[in-house]
Amino acid sequence: MPALKRRYWIMATITIAAVLLGIILYFVLVPEDVPITRKKPHIIIIMADDLGRNDVGFHGSNQIPTPNIDALAYNGIILDKFYTQYACTPSRAALLTGNYPLRYGIHGSPIRAGQNRSLPEDVTTMPEHLKKLGYKTHLVGKWHLGAAYKKSTPLRRGFDTHFGYWHGFVGYFDYTAIYELTNETNAKGLDVHDGFQPVWSAQGKYATELFTEKAVEVIDGHDGDEPLFLFLAHLAPHTGTDGTELGVPNSTLSNIKYEYIKDPRRRLYADVVNLMDESVGKVVEKLSDKNMLQNSIILFLSDNGAQTVGVYENSGSNWPLRGLKLSEFEGGVRAAAAIFSPLFEKSGYVNKELIHLTDLLPTFFVAAGGDPETLGTIDGINQWDTLSKNLSTNRTEVLLNINEVENASAIITNSGRYKFLQGTYNSGSYDHHYGDGGRGPEVPPFSVSTILESSTYEAIRGLVTAPLTNDKVKELRAQTDLSWCRNDNETYPMDCRKGCLFNLDEDPCEITNIIETEKEIEGKLRGRLDDFKKVMVPQPEEVFDEASNPIFYNNTWCTWLDDDLCFKTPKLQK
Ligand SMILES: *[C@@H]1O[C@H](CO)[C@@H](O)[C@H](O)[C@H]1NC(C)=O
Ligand SMILES: *[C@@H]1O[C@H](CO)[C@@H](O)[C@H](O)[C@H]1NC(C)=O
Ligand SMILES: *[C@@H]1O[C@H](CO)[C@@H](O)[C@H](O)[C@H]1NC(C)=O
Ligand SMILES: *[C@@H]1O[C@H](CO)[C@@H](O)[C@H](O)[C@H]1NC(C)=O
Ligand SMILES: *[C@@H]1O[C@H](CO)[C@@H](O)[C@H](O)[C@H]1NC(C)=O
Ligand SMILES: *[C@@H]1O[C@H](CO)[C@@H](O)[C@H](O)[C@H]1NC(C)=O
Ligand SMILES: *[C@@H]1O[C@H](CO)[C@@H](O)[C@H](O)[C@H]1NC(C)=O
Ligand SMILES: *[C@@H]1O[C@H](CO)[C@@H](O)[C@H](O)[C@H]1NC(C)=O
Repeated sequence: MPALKRRYWIMATITIAAVLLGIILYFVLVPEDVPITRKKPHIIIIMADDLGRNDVGFHGSNQIPTPNIDALAYNGIILDKFYTQYACTPSRAALLTGNYPLRYGIHGSPIRAGQNRSLPEDVTTMPEHLKKLGYKTHLVGKWHLGAAYKKSTPLRRGFDTHFGYWHGFVGYFDYTAIYELTNETNAKGLDVHDGFQPVWSAQGKYATELFTEKAVEVIDGHDGDEPLFLFLAHLAPHTGTDGTELGVPNSTLSNIKYEYIKDPRRRLYADVVNLMDESVGKVVEKLSDKNMLQNSIILFLSDNGAQTVGVYENSGSNWPLRGLKLSEFEGGVRAAAAIFSPLFEKSGYVNKELIHLTDLLPTFFVAAGGDPETLGTIDGINQWDTLSKNLSTNRTEVLLNINEVENASAIITNSGRYKFLQGTYNSGSYDHHYGDGGRGPEVPPFSVSTILESSTYEAIRGLVTAPLTNDKVKELRAQTDLSWCRNDNETYPMDCRKGCLFNLDEDPCEITNIIETEKEIEGKLRGRLDDFKKVMVPQPEEVFDEASNPIFYNNTWCTWLDDDLCFKTPKLQK
């Protein structure tokens, strides 16, 4: 017995000593700022196309119900001063490279089918960076960064899989896109691909539902122990087919659901947006089912402002802001965005810091455990602490654009206070205030219950510290409300061809040009634009290659300059 007891004590002493030694060694050897290895977060980006700032509930309008997006926003972080580029291609380039698109000459008009233009091959994309950290990467929906060659398409630019379309938009049901190849011929073809394979069987299914199904499939098939990067880039609420379609499954139903909206076209738009909101709910629900949600970061954003009037008009609203997509006024670039993650230290607040699309690459890279030094010099800034800890950002300036073709440029400095803008858009017809305020007495009153009943809230309920209340929502809405800045007495037009200067803190609606009284600031901002002109790669001339015409490829848009995988129309060889 004493022998046994002694052996017991010796063993116990050795064990305790070993544990103590382990603890001491841990603190000696592991530097303080290296976090204890946790699983890399899943990163999910859900991007709307041409969604108006005023078309999400969290900006204070009840006109279009978006309870799932609102559940993410009110329980996450509302990004109040989130800036994008003025159109699809430049915005997606900024997001995926962390650099201003003028460094690549793709800062102007979006790429159109039949143009040999793309993101340069030597620039590393967000999915390529994340793959190095062990991520599985998937794109569902829109690409729009070039498809003349196979090497320009998503599978060769860092995505393990892509289900969706290569060009700017497709039909909501037929997945065809019509583009003007020359001033005389319109070319029409199918643009929905699974990798390189055209998917004819997609025809007939509603795009928002199909892309949601595919995104849910990606999550379902994912091994939750590995990190996931999913980019779900919706067609909604961009117009489809020939650029006029606002596709809904049942327009009679849309008219009934939104009869309180006067403009019949905006009723369709409202339904398109509402159905996209349902998609958000399904994605979040699946993340929850797969036990991945508690380790996820979910970003919802629009690529730019709505196109309220003009080409590809969708009747979205950037109210009360001035301008729209394709203009550098706030309506074109101060987009709707919110981010949710249980990993944030602080949540449920409005972040008023200056944030630009290019910041997402370094922010997510750091969240994924990457060393930001390895990204080299990029325009994007790591905003993880700004978001997670609610700290002031290190970003003081946002270059909105220098467009040497349209003679338009804009830049914001002083942490978002001053904006210099020079140019006019579409001969002045995009320079006004547009869009429905959505705050009339006919609009249904707000009730937090629609949010509490959403699939998204159901899924995140267990992950949020305090339940969402009416008062909390009112408080957050008050902080994002910009209706005070609108002045409908303003006389049009505002001529900014020689340059305008706005104080965005006092005048986010861009009504008062203060350039005459603030010469010093004007000079400083013009100087910053000159600095950027030195690094700008000029836009190539817009050339359409008729060899891209889908008639040569069994009526599909194909990678025509590298077409060994394309099915060529018999007897119609070029
Ligand atoms: C397409 O563009 C690339 C990059 O600018 C260029 O190298 C290539 O020669 C072009 N191809 C054609 C057929 O014009
Ligand atoms: C199409 O454009 C070409 C070149 O700009 C021009 O010569 C031609 O007249 C145009 N055709 C029509 C029908 O406008
Ligand atoms: C469309 O919705 C209306 C109203 O709910 C309904 O009566 C009709 O049957 C629906 N049409 C189809 C094709 O489902
Ligand atoms: C700002 O930059 C400094 C210096 O690199 C860094 O220490 C600090 O954490 C940054 N602030 C935020 C909010 O990221
Ligand atoms: C975030 O910071 C702002 C400005 O300092 C402050 O007013 C707000 O209460 C903070 N919110 C949270 C949730 O920390
Ligand atoms: C831009 O300016 C140049 C040079 O002044 C001029 O030739 C061109 O027509 C202008 N473009 C637009 C779209 O105004
Ligand atoms: C607009 O004009 C009306 C009539 O002159 C005036 O009463 C009102 O105060 C003006 N509103 C603003 C915001 O300036
Ligand atoms: C060619 O297009 C038709 C639809 O027009 C489609 O049914 C068929 O499968 C396509 N052929 C190939 C080889 O892709």
